[in-house]
Amino acid sequence: MSRIIVISNRVSTGGGAHGGLATALHAALRENGGIWFGWSGERVEQFTGLINFQRENGVTTATVDLDDHDIEEYYNGYANRTLWPLFHYRIDLAEYERDFAGGYQRTNKRFADTVSPLIEPEDLVWVHDYHMFPLGAELRKRGVRNRIGFFLHIPWPPRRLLVTLPEAEELVKALLAYDLIGFHTPEWVESFCDYVCHELGGTLEGGNELVLGKRRVRLIACPIGIDAAEFAKLTESDTARQTFERVRESVVGRALIVGVDRLDYSKGLEERFLGYERFLTDNPEERKEVVLLQIAPPSRASVDSYQRIRSTLEGLAGRINGAHAALDWVPIRYVNQGYPRDVLAGVYRASKIGLVTPLRDGMNLVAKEYVAAQDPEDPGVLILSRFAGAAEQMPDALLVNPYSAEEMSDAIRQALIMPREERIRRWETLIRDVQEQDVVWWRTQFTEALKAVPERAR
Ligand code: G6P
Repeated sequence: MSRIIVISNRVSTGGGAHGGLATALHAALRENGGIWFGWSGERVEQFTGLINFQRENGVTTATVDLDDHDIEEYYNGYANRTLWPLFHYRIDLAEYERDFAGGYQRTNKRFADTVSPLIEPEDLVWVHDYHMFPLGAELRKRGVRNRIGFFLHIPWPPRRLLVTLPEAEELVKALLAYDLIGFHTPEWVESFCDYVCHELGGTLEGGNELVLGKRRVRLIACPIGIDAAEFAKLTESDTARQTFERVRESVVGRALIVGVDRLDYSKGLEERFLGYERFLTDNPEERKEVVLLQIAPPSRASVDSYQRIRSTLEGLAGRINGAHAALDWVPIRYVNQGYPRDVLAGVYRASKIGLVTPLRDGMNLVAKEYVAAQDPEDPGVLILSRFAGAAEQMPDALLVNPYSAEEMSDAIRQALIMPREERIRRWETLIRDVQEQDVVWWRTQFTEALKAVPERAR
């Protein structure tokens, strides 16, 4: 079995509690051996390239500290002020600065310098997400001949938007240094091909191989899943049960609607609040029968657009509560804090509706966790944005256009009055796919496809 070298901006050590992605990658690292490499999350005055190795529960991690320039230009800058908004179709928020692009390249070179000596000839190398587009090409320059795969966890933007990025061609050409590129959905694969074929003159062969000059790269649509079995177990835990009781008690017989999202403009929180307000206005008889609990831990707080969305939402929640609240009822509970996964499992199970309405999302695992946490005898209803990658796999959710407050209002109403038989029927189809296409299925699909890349393509 080849060892696996996982490379990503954030690294998850072997200790403590984790999300599904970390659990699946840890299992692969334990089974096959290998290393998870990336940024430590720490800031130092001067980049040294010193690696901090850690071994916990059979998982080895190797992390480096970054300096102020790297963090400003690479992480806060190019990754989160340029690529993140552009790749979520928000060119109005994207900042195109040469310093950011330069810092991004420099930091990727630093990562490549640091990690390349750790790679052995038979290792499979798996690079993750938009922080690391050029890493494969940098590793090739340092003589790494291994199979190298890349997985993008966010959407790939349409060609007409991508062309606004000054470095688009350079970045996409760098991506062709990988042997395999994975996306969550066929839609993102199509957008990627569209750019390579129409802007760069590449061709698509056999439906899944892009050819440009001497480069040949395979593409795969491979949606990430959750660790469904682990999540079901969490739902049975003492903490989840206690949370379920506490939350149910606190809503005194009302229907709880839950949203859980990083505080990010791509999540459509403003539109969600407005859709919910529309529901309150359109259905006066339902007023006081529902409560929206929105959990939104702050994220990337050094970036202006994140500070703005935070204050906009605070204002909006205050306005809606001010306009609609009664002595014994507040329509929105807006919580700017993160919670452990076992607590969330209890909250999901206590909620009649899971409201997952991003404006654009690579996948969205909250949708899958909400489904995994439901009571099979009395499941809640998932309302899901058709612009989340998860919508493709979850047609039995109530799919909505999150830009339309009316559609959102109608879906909330439909979910509240949906007969139990229909809720069970929809949930059974959803849970079957959540269980079958779980995170181990995803990992296996990708690593098997990477192993299958023929020598000639390297
Ligand atoms: C998204 C990205 C991840 C990222 C996460 C949290 O899910 O795809 O790569 O790690 O957001 O964002 P942060 O900037 O805190 O790492």
